[in-house]
Amino acid sequence: MGKLKIVTILGARPQFIKAAAVSSVFSKYFDEVLVHTGQHYDPNMSDVFFEELNIPNPKYHLNIGSGSHGAMTGAMLVEIEKVLEIEKPDFVLVYGDTNSTIAGALAASKILIPVIHVEAGLRSFNKAMPEEQNRILTDHISDLLFVPTQTAVDNLKNEGITKGVHLVGDVMYDGILHFAKIAREKSTILNKLQLKEGDFLLCTIHRAENTNSPERLASIFTALNACGELVVLPLHPRTLKYINDYGLQLGDNIRVIEPVGYLDMVRLESTAKKIVTDSGGIQKEAFFLGIPCITMRDETEWVETVENGWNIVVGADEARIVDAIRHFNPTSERKSYFGKGNASQLMVNPILNYKNEGK
Ligand code: UD1
Ligand code: UDP
Repeated sequence: MGKLKIVTILGARPQFIKAAAVSSVFSKYFDEVLVHTGQHYDPNMSDVFFEELNIPNPKYHLNIGSGSHGAMTGAMLVEIEKVLEIEKPDFVLVYGDTNSTIAGALAASKILIPVIHVEAGLRSFNKAMPEEQNRILTDHISDLLFVPTQTAVDNLKNEGITKGVHLVGDVMYDGILHFAKIAREKSTILNKLQLKEGDFLLCTIHRAENTNSPERLASIFTALNACGELVVLPLHPRTLKYINDYGLQLGDNIRVIEPVGYLDMVRLESTAKKIVTDSGGIQKEAFFLGIPCITMRDETEWVETVENGWNIVVGADEARIVDAIRHFNPTSERKSYFGKGNASQLMVNPILNYKNEGK
């Protein structure tokens, strides 16, 4: 019998990073065909990751970037279905909670191809987030759900999903264990930016709830300006667009740079004094690396990092952001909520055994 065929749908930056960890393991067991939806398309939001993280070249590029939620997701659905009709895979694999995730899962589910969801079970309990809608819908049409934390297992159980659920740990933890050392050896970003270790804050902002609100975005920048620290800000293209649209002035202590590759990002994360972000993945990476994280959202999916004392959720409130930058100094021992760094390997047997289990 030949290898099982998996079509994997990728589209956005965090999915390339997850694929870097997973595809290197999967290549030993499966015939994996990568499909790039084109959701992220700038070279520094896409190509850089394929080049530096040795992710195999996608066989299909759908070139569906930007656009409204409906236009983007709908176009992806049409094009992914065509690919699935050609490839006839045993499974379709999707990561996380983006529009590419729900499009891939729905295209497969409707034509009865089993769906594998990696990073299943996360919930913010804020249905206004496009990601929350995407992840709830994806979980409910998935056949194998690979779950990073016990909290995520419990979330699924509360929605009646117990079948096909496997707690394997977080594939981003696999990734950081592998790439942090390489980043230390190869990245030249500190020299390039003339930064000293422990002498700057690293900030990222891209979440819709912040960028789509002129008040929230302005409040965040006022806080970053008032904190009295050097703030390095690799700027997401979405946020750049809104800063220009709103005519916001960024202060002198904010050092805006283009989005960086993963090795440079991990180097910046590991050497930052603190991380100030609204990203999902970066909250976890801060925890893995032992860097205090200040989360500019009203809630988080990664509640363990908060419970353990290494992440503080401050919304977009100016005073709370400044206070956390000045005074949030975690000291507690970090617990291992996210597995052992072998999540990708632990996914292999449930996939190989899936058909034998008569599902
Ligand atoms: C998407 C995901 C979000 C994820 C984020 C990771 C959805 C609904 N959102 O948000 O969950 O956290 O990716 O970064 O799927 N743009 C460019 N160049 C690019 C990519 C985007 O200029 O390469 C600009 C375009 O103006 C585009 C906007 O950014 O319209 C938003 O991009 P989009 O992919 O729709 O959402 P993100 O904010 O990136
Ligand atoms: N990242 C990167 N370069 C950047 C910003 C982020 O490599 O300039 C990486 C980051 O280290 C993490 C992932 O991108 O692995 C997180 O993606 P993002 O914040 O865009 O999305 P989210 O995790 O919020 O969905």
